[in-house]
Amino acid sequence: MAAFGVVPCQIYTNLRSTSLISFKYGVKSEKQEYYGSILRNGQRFFRNRLNIYFGGEGQEIRSKSLHRNCSGAERLVNGVASDLDDPSLEAKQHLKYENEHNGFNNTFNVFGSNTLDDEAWSLLRASMVYYCGNPIGTIAANDPSDSNTLNYDQVFIRDFVPSGIAFLLKGEYEIVRNFILHTLQLQSWEKTMDCHSPGQGLMPASFKVRTVPLDGDDSATEEVLDPDFGEAAIGRVAPVDSGLWWIILLRAYGKCSGDLSVQERIDVQTGIKMILKLCLADGFDMFPTLLVTDGSCMIDRRMGIHGHPLEIQSLFYSALLCAREMLAPEEASADLIRALNNRLVALSIHIREYYWIDMNKLNEIYRYKTEEYSFDAVNKFNIYPDQIPPWLVEWMPNKGGYLIGNLQPAHMDFRFFSLGNLWAIICNLATTDQSHAILDLIESKWSDLVAGMPLKICYPALEGQEWRIITGSDPKNTPWSYHNGGSWPTLLWQLTVACIKMNRPEIAEKAIKIAEKRIAKDKWPEYYDTKGARFIGKQAHLYQTWSIAGYLVAKLLIANPSAANILVNIQDAELLNVFSSALSANPRGKRLRKGPKQSFII
Ligand code: GLC
Repeated sequence: MAAFGVVPCQIYTNLRSTSLISFKYGVKSEKQEYYGSILRNGQRFFRNRLNIYFGGEGQEIRSKSLHRNCSGAERLVNGVASDLDDPSLEAKQHLKYENEHNGFNNTFNVFGSNTLDDEAWSLLRASMVYYCGNPIGTIAANDPSDSNTLNYDQVFIRDFVPSGIAFLLKGEYEIVRNFILHTLQLQSWEKTMDCHSPGQGLMPASFKVRTVPLDGDDSATEEVLDPDFGEAAIGRVAPVDSGLWWIILLRAYGKCSGDLSVQERIDVQTGIKMILKLCLADGFDMFPTLLVTDGSCMIDRRMGIHGHPLEIQSLFYSALLCAREMLAPEEASADLIRALNNRLVALSIHIREYYWIDMNKLNEIYRYKTEEYSFDAVNKFNIYPDQIPPWLVEWMPNKGGYLIGNLQPAHMDFRFFSLGNLWAIICNLATTDQSHAILDLIESKWSDLVAGMPLKICYPALEGQEWRIITGSDPKNTPWSYHNGGSWPTLLWQLTVACIKMNRPEIAEKAIKIAEKRIAKDKWPEYYDTKGARFIGKQAHLYQTWSIAGYLVAKLLIANPSAANILVNIQDAELLNVFSSALSANPRGKRLRKGPKQSFII
């Protein structure tokens, strides 16, 4: 019955998409080819597709499937057709993959490895996924002894970022280029959940390379990319962060390799614009922050982060800045670039001012008047001082501060979220003073945030009734486990970039030393449990690729700090002007905060 319900929906969706294109471009006869969508046993697959350009601003680029094995992939990446019909290609690919896989097992079981870095590199290479003979990504976890892989055998967009950076820093650009171009092809995929489609421009959370029988020839097979936009993910969460990470990685690729031809391609420019249009679309929002549902980022299940979570805002700001650098200056994009600039200014004012918390600000909130009705309200969001949690009164150091996890009407989520804070430093969303204060806080709360393994995903954990209500009694997110205060080694690379940017690499070096004591011995777990990160996570996957890649990136950057520039955003003078004039032009902007210092001004 379930399949019966799903199939007509898929057919409907494809027909609808096709007719949309037929209407727009007057093309009628290539229905199946446009989306290259095939429905087999209720599953949709993505075939290799070749772009056809219609040109002109606002016109969407669509793809045409090539009904030949791997040909689209070759053309997409190299711009030329290659040997399309080599029947032994797939066998070769598998052999290549198997060899590398076995090589890694042999290396470790028989010979052992020389250093931690060598071991990490072998493991990272063993996690590489090939599509049509070319490296295209890395799987999330690669533990041969684990029979319960769930979707950890897929290439996750967010998980690939540290892998991609590690390869870039090593001068191996091909895999990153392939990843960028192939995931771009997945972006325009028509995806549905119970007949509903999210906006075009959404990037998948993950994808898998599948081998399927070739159409009309049962004796042959072909490889297809099978994306998951959240429609199969636990909780059906929307991967809002994927497109943002994609833009960030695209810029890093260009900066590191010097190859700007990828970001200059028309399809890539269109991909950037589609992500931006989705994020900048008008809605009901009163705030410049991006409104999302729970679980839309690294924390991809219910943890009470719906609304305007910091992690998404930091990645959003970063992606806007990166896109601004890469978008071709053309007349047709003027409106989009204007909207982008306005959003950057509004977002930075909002986050720097209203998300920031330190001893002074906490004391200010403690003395807030409530129920203020006026443009001049000090307590704009009507925060009741009783919301200040007792743990924070003790925990907030005299020196230091951080950006809170979320802000909504009458609600501040005071939890400390590591990724959002670190990325706010990296992309310059936090001011210089705030950035130093965040690192001061990490140093002064070392035993809470770093403890036995860097770094806690958030602090503190939700416990008791709060855990029951907020997580829905999630047994994986019990206190100090997984997303609920667990420790994630992958965060080491973001910590390192942030420390290098602020010229305080010694903090990251200290954290790396702690990780090195046990991460390899513990088989590179996904996360650790307990307040002090003493146990390997209850359900943590071993040989988790982004734990391995995160460590490698941290080491590579410590050895060559200037390479962190491929990820960092610095204060843009032009933007600073827009920012200052926006403040002076808006009389309400001057009343943002009463107090001795306007902390949002750099
Ligand atoms: C878990 C994590 C998510 C990650 C995925 C694959 O679902 O919460 O952030 O992308 O595993 O590693």
